[in-house]
This record gives sequence, C-alpha cells and structure tokens, in this order.
Amino acid sequence: MARISVITAFPGLIRDFVSASVLGRGIASGKLEVSVTDIRDHSSGAYRQIDDYAFGGGGMLLMPGPLESALDAVAPRGDRFVACPTPQGVPLHQELVEDLHKASLAKRLVIVCGHYEGIDERFVERYVDVEFSIGDFVLTGGELPAVALIDAISRLVKGVVGKERAVEDDSFYSGMLDCPHYTRPADFNGALVPDVLLGGDHAAIDSFRKEEAARRTISRRPDMIARAGIMPYLRKGAYVILLHHPVRDRNGRKSTTAITGLDLHDISRACKTYGVKKYFVVTPLAPQREMVKKIARHWVDGYGAEFNPDRKEAMKLVKTCPSLAGALDWIEEREKARPFTIATTARQTDCGKNWTCVKRQMLELSRPLVFLFGTGSGLHGDILSGSSVVMNPISGGSKDYNHLSVRSAVGIVLDRFFGFR
Ligand code: ADE
Repeated sequence: MARISVITAFPGLIRDFVSASVLGRGIASGKLEVSVTDIRDHSSGAYRQIDDYAFGGGGMLLMPGPLESALDAVAPRGDRFVACPTPQGVPLHQELVEDLHKASLAKRLVIVCGHYEGIDERFVERYVDVEFSIGDFVLTGGELPAVALIDAISRLVKGVVGKERAVEDDSFYSGMLDCPHYTRPADFNGALVPDVLLGGDHAAIDSFRKEEAARRTISRRPDMIARAGIMPYLRKGAYVILLHHPVRDRNGRKSTTAITGLDLHDISRACKTYGVKKYFVVTPLAPQREMVKKIARHWVDGYGAEFNPDRKEAMKLVKTCPSLAGALDWIEEREKARPFTIATTARQTDCGKNWTCVKRQMLELSRPLVFLFGTGSGLHGDILSGSSVVMNPISGGSKDYNHLSVRSAVGIVLDRFFGFR
C-alpha cells in the first residue's frame, strides 16, 4: 500500500483535498493511506511558535526544531523518504512521480510543506531526500504542490482510477501529450465531433488519436520529443538496413565489406527490442547472403530456435538483399508508400541534421522510415547524397576519436528515436 504523510502548518487544506473525489475514495477503500501532521503540535513554546525571522533579513522561515520533531513522530529515519516542495526544487514530472510512488510503497513518503519564505536550510540538508517544484512561479506555500503530488501518485495506485487504460493513455505516459477527447452531444451548437470517433473502426480511431497526440506534442511541447518513445506514433513503422556495399574503405574508396556474425546477432536484437519491422543485410555477394541465410535459419528453424527462443524472435527480422534499391522496393511494396531514408555517418557533413529535428519530422510523415548504416569506414557518398536525410554524427565529445562499431551506433540511434527516457 502507498503510504504518504504530509507535515504542514495548514492541515485543513490537505485534509479537505484528500477527502474528496477519486483520492478520497482511494483512501476510503484502503488502497492508499494519507496522514496529516500539524507542525504546531510539535512546537515547544507557549505560543506554539513554528517560524521566525531569517538571519540577515528576508521574512519568516519555518524553524528546524518543530519540523524535526514532527518528522520523527511521523516515521523513523529508516522508514521514510522525505520530499519537500519548493520553487528551487527539480521540476516535478511523471518519472519523478513514478519514483516517489515507488518510494511510498517501500517506505513512508513524507512531504514537508514550507510556508512563508521557506524552511531553515539546516533541516533541508539533514533530512530532505528530494526537493521538487511544480513550476516556475512562487506560491504562498507547499500545500498545493503537495496535493498535486499526492493526486498524481494516487493515479498510479492500482484500482484508484477506474480503468487502467485511462492511466496508460494519460499525457506523459510514453513521453507524448494526450490526444483531444469528446463526449455527447456529437453536435455542440455546430461544433462536430470528428467523424472517425463516431464509427466503430478501432484501428482508425487508434491512428487518429496517435496522430492528434503527435500533432499536439510537436506544436505545444517540442521539447518533449527528444525524450519520447515515438515508435507507436509512426504511421508506417521503421526499418534498418546494414550496407556492405557501397561503403568506404579506410582510404575513402568505394568498396564491399564482408559480413560480421556479431552484426547479425546484435543488430537484430536491438531491432526487436525497439520494435523495428525488418533488418536488411545488404550485400551484392551471393555466397555472403547464403551465409547470412544459413545463420538466420539455424536460429529461426534449426536447433538455435530451441536453444534460445528469444534469439529466434530477433533473427526472424533478418532479411538479405543484393542491393539497397532492392530492399527499398521491398519496403515500398509492403507499406504502399515510398520509404524515407535516414543515412548515418561518423563524419561531419555539410548537410547533417540534428537528430531531434529528424525525430520531429518523422512524426509528420506517412512514409516508412529506413535507417541506413554502413559497415567498413561508413556509407559511401553516393548513399549519403541519395538519402532523404543525413544525420549528424553521434558524438562522444572527444575531438580526435570517433570509431563506434556499427552495432553500437545502431543501438544509440534506435534508443534516441524509440527509447523512452
Ligand atoms: N512552493 C512555492 N512555490 C512552489 C512551486 N512553484 N513549486 C513547489 N513548491 C512551491
């Protein structure tokens, strides 16, 4: 059960809020526990004093003594995680809410509300595990941020929000904003509900909602795109192509490389992990393609499938092709749309695009996305100039060394585009 305690100079504010609506019902049904402690009950003087002037000037501060006594009364040191709302804190976002929800399950989450000008810093340094802010504005106290946090945590407590799906679809769940929603009447003084929502085509409704979610996120919160997992929002999915020709040799000449076994295993596993639809291994050399097929067959149909069923799932994605053009034709035929090719390179080029801009652009396309990776010393210039976009190199920050294996590059690129951080 989630256990939360609030230490405050205004207990009524918290009690009123948590007793109402969904939160109140969650507490009543025993799915979460919220207790409230009045700091004044822990003041020592006859006047129940809890605050005093700041040394050096600057208004009233909550004194450390009553706060310490309230905290010890609420939970012993080993059984508490202390959060403190303050405009100086880290921004409260969904991942932090999830972490604090976990903290409330493992220990008691204690929220200490500041008031007036804040809290004596010595209390914060000694007892507070995280300081959080709900925005770049200053409220009169931490009570509103505290109830905002409790409300957000309560949505994560199983059974508090009616339908699990409502929580899954919330804004921020895969790093994207939610789509717009409509209820009756279907015609509100001439403002109509989009037709697609009135029909029973669930696949069409799902695509409509994802497209709207993507549109909103791009226009209102472009900053969120960098961290969002966008695979579910792509209309035609993503493919990876590993080229063994035409690639550069060490001297920059056009050449053909040999297949590397590790590339088959590691890249297919990365593709499966991030939801890529197919992993093409392109080589003009027929015996090399035969070798890839033999290896893939071992893992998909042969003893390997029994030995390691997870590898089977990854290896199922592997497909050989003699040329890039052939692979792109195959994708176009399957998706009924021309692929959008994204070339990767470890070299600085004049046309390199920032990866967050490419990510944003991908959300607006109705074309299959194809990431091109080169073996050897990278994709040949012909491939770069023929692709829809060339991405800036992945940079590790060191000026004179940039030699990632292609397997590492695939992992990093897939994580930037499809991982959710
Ligand atoms: N206390 C006062 N203003 C605040 C804010 N914006 N976030 C968290 N705590 C606060």
